[in-house]
Amino acid sequence: MKTIYFPEPFRIKSVEPLRMLTREERERKIAEAGYNVFSLASRDVYIDLLTDSGTGAMSVDQWAGVMVGDESYAGAECYYRVQETAKRIFGLPYVQLVHQGRAAEKVLLPVLLQGKKYAISNMHFDTTRAHVELAGARAIDCVVPEALDTTAYYDFKGNMDTARLEQYIKELGAENIGVIIMTITNNSAGGQPVSVENIRKTREIAHAHGIPFMIDAARYAENAYFVHKREPEFADSTIEEIVKATFEDADCFTMSAKKDAIVNMGGLIGCRNREIFELVKQRCISFEGFITYGGMSGRDIEALARGLKEGIDENYLRYRIGQMEYLAARLDEAGIPYQSPVGGHAVFVDAKKLLPHIPYYEFPAQALAIELYKEAGIRACDIGSFMLGNDPDTGKQLEAEFEFTRLAIPRRVYTQSHLDVIADALENIKERAGRIRGYRIVEEPPILRHFTAKLLPL
Ligand code: F0G
Repeated sequence: MKTIYFPEPFRIKSVEPLRMLTREERERKIAEAGYNVFSLASRDVYIDLLTDSGTGAMSVDQWAGVMVGDESYAGAECYYRVQETAKRIFGLPYVQLVHQGRAAEKVLLPVLLQGKKYAISNMHFDTTRAHVELAGARAIDCVVPEALDTTAYYDFKGNMDTARLEQYIKELGAENIGVIIMTITNNSAGGQPVSVENIRKTREIAHAHGIPFMIDAARYAENAYFVHKREPEFADSTIEEIVKATFEDADCFTMSAKKDAIVNMGGLIGCRNREIFELVKQRCISFEGFITYGGMSGRDIEALARGLKEGIDENYLRYRIGQMEYLAARLDEAGIPYQSPVGGHAVFVDAKKLLPHIPYYEFPAQALAIELYKEAGIRACDIGSFMLGNDPDTGKQLEAEFEFTRLAIPRRVYTQSHLDVIADALENIKERAGRIRGYRIVEEPPILRHFTAKLLPL
């Protein structure tokens, strides 16, 4: 029997031409880029899966919003619209615009971490980790052990390990922990969802110890869709109701709106506490811009206000997650290992399993990303030891829990034929997997090195 996937709930009105270079050209381009996919020019990429962030296609309604965006420095119409929409969807009383997710982290995290030593999360995204460290604290990941076995089925592999969290609080001292962060979906574990039950439990633990509870809400809508499908309590709930339950009693959130709000630029901070919000506003004015535009142009704010609503449309989410399920099913047929069940925004290919002969310090997930580019002009990225970097205390290469090559799928951009090209390319690579070599770094900056480091094949 054929599985029926969920086709596009839209048609295409405007197209962007793509070209595929020859294999020789691709090999030259990736060498010139220092074997770092971030240094490739996008014109040399056929299918760009580097990220699902800011790469989505806006709707006609969003584009119409661009025309009516109010560019006033203070009190623009779109500011009120985004405030009203965000407060209604998330239920927190104070909302601040910023230009993207890491700007939200830069503004909020130092407020929470002042005089503190630790932040604990189910898993910190790399920019979140960087901002925790820049604020002088250490970032501790505390994901459930089920996440580590990429072949085992588990509904909520993104969950916090709440028993270990309580242990950490006991060992480190609640007074030393500035914030407990729930990242939904859990990007670094494979775009894996977190259950509302786990969110509630984590929040209760945080509050029992007087620690603020924060949500990193980049993919709040995809998370809600998984909750709807997999958590019995919410089988009959709307996505909007699940989002409400997710943010209930959260002290604050940061959000990169470049994901589930389907805009090319934008971010939000939400707060429940007035004093914290006053500090957020002051820091926003110095770093981002006046509070009613927060580093954004009015047209982008208007598109964001409209995108927040489109992102929680159930038909859209069914198609969106359906694309991941389709690609995952093709990889199942080909026997290509990935974080299973597939996550919400990407397929995370398990490079440790596909290239078992390459050790973590020779970056198997980076090696696979480079092969994908050489094979079919596909740009994916390493979410593994290459991204994790070095221990800030000892300077030694850290070993990541996973070695993933992430195939992040932009929203409403690629068709099913593009997904077939990706699956075919991986099948070809699998056939010659044993001959693929690792890489060594020849140049690297101290923080967030994977964006600019240069490598050479071994
Ligand atoms: N938090 C999470 C969970 C993210 O995935 C990202 C970005 C951020 C925060 C930072 O947001 O990019 O708007 O500053 N993730 C992108 C990615 C870059 O490719 O996964 P930003």
